[in-house]
Amino acid sequence: MVDKDRQAPGVLGIVGGGQLGRMLVQAARELGVDCMVLDPHADAPAVQVGAGHVPGGLFDADALARLASLADVVTFEIEATDAGVLGGLAERGHRVRPRPGTLAVIQNKLRQKEFLRAHDLPTSRFEPLERPSARAMLDFGLPAVQKLQRGGYDGRGVHIVRDETSLASLLDGPSLVEAFVHTRRELAVVGARGIDGEVRCYPVVDMTLGESTNMLEMLTAPADVPAVIADAARDLARRTIEALDDVGVFAVELFLDEGDDLLVNEISPRVHNSGHFTIDACRTSQFEQHVRAVMGLPLGDTTQRRPAAMVNLLGEAGFCGPPVLEGEPEALSMDDVHVHLYGKADCRAHRKMGHVTVLDDTLAGAVAKARRVRDVLRIRGRDPVPGSN
Ligand SMILES: Nc1ncnc2c1ncn2[C@@H]1O[C@H](COP(=O)(O)OP(=O)(O)O)[C@@H](O)[C@H]1O
Ligand SMILES: [Mg+2]
Repeated sequence: MVDKDRQAPGVLGIVGGGQLGRMLVQAARELGVDCMVLDPHADAPAVQVGAGHVPGGLFDADALARLASLADVVTFEIEATDAGVLGGLAERGHRVRPRPGTLAVIQNKLRQKEFLRAHDLPTSRFEPLERPSARAMLDFGLPAVQKLQRGGYDGRGVHIVRDETSLASLLDGPSLVEAFVHTRRELAVVGARGIDGEVRCYPVVDMTLGESTNMLEMLTAPADVPAVIADAARDLARRTIEALDDVGVFAVELFLDEGDDLLVNEISPRVHNSGHFTIDACRTSQFEQHVRAVMGLPLGDTTQRRPAAMVNLLGEAGFCGPPVLEGEPEALSMDDVHVHLYGKADCRAHRKMGHVTVLDDTLAGAVAKARRVRDVLRIRGRDPVPGSN
């Protein structure tokens, strides 16, 4: 049931003021929901677009309590916050959505894998690896993947061990080891669960990741896969989100292996890079959907209007300082090219500075245009980094 007695749109508190927070604030404002953003920086991307600012660190218990006292509902745009402190706030009656308990499970990749196994959701074989050693990796069997239990993101904290030569560079710290999946494709499904328990998923998308960086290079939506696989992916994402039994937007990253089986790689308890295309391509964006879900409003229509391709705009290596954008006029002279810049003051190597969604009548047309955009549109810091060339 939706909150029928809601008198005013209410205030949404957001932990973290990065680009995800920024796009949440933009969507919230259109629904008449005011936002307060906790972030150390007064010029954070989410604060720039008209949210109130609560200064402080994301692990600062007093700052989190201050945010909660100013908001009707608290949510987060990043997993790097204190789930225990948020749990204490929830116990004292603050609405925190998704639940801090869900965040705590997802923050720890081992607990997350255990959650998947406990709910019979297919995922690669794994074992805890509290003290990483070559011996333990060999006993588990290669090829395998070592993942730090906590703190990893965007490929950091993940070490792929294809053969014995990579055993010398194991990561330090409590980890898990999982079987290497020979993937045909990396897919993702973003979905939302409302406070009435309804789940709505967006179309499955295909993510091409950089060979060495493990970062997203191009996303296509919908994924170019047979309908049976697309349906199975959405069904698996739905079951995963239902198992979480929580409220908000979640992203489910999937592997399609060489036998065409789907495995859950990981879950994000928040809006996600793989859902950015929904702003321009779908009837309801993932950001509006998250605001609707956590504020107790009905979920919106997830239908995609046109095929889409999305590329991230990353800072070029070798430079830092205020961003310099090149090629924007050329990019914007193409039809249905949507540039989103995050307003970050400092442009460093590989930093996410923005993204571009390209729409077209066909997926192939969108991909071709997105490649042209990627060729002409560049962002780098104004100043060369000393010592690099
Ligand atoms: N078990 C696996 N088999 C093959 N590749 C994997 C496996 N686990 C992770 N990877 C690769 O590493 C990337 C990052 O791993 P992931 O667990 O998604 O961590 P992150 O939190 O950095 O996104 C994946 O997108 C995939 O390309
Ligand atoms: Mg991932």
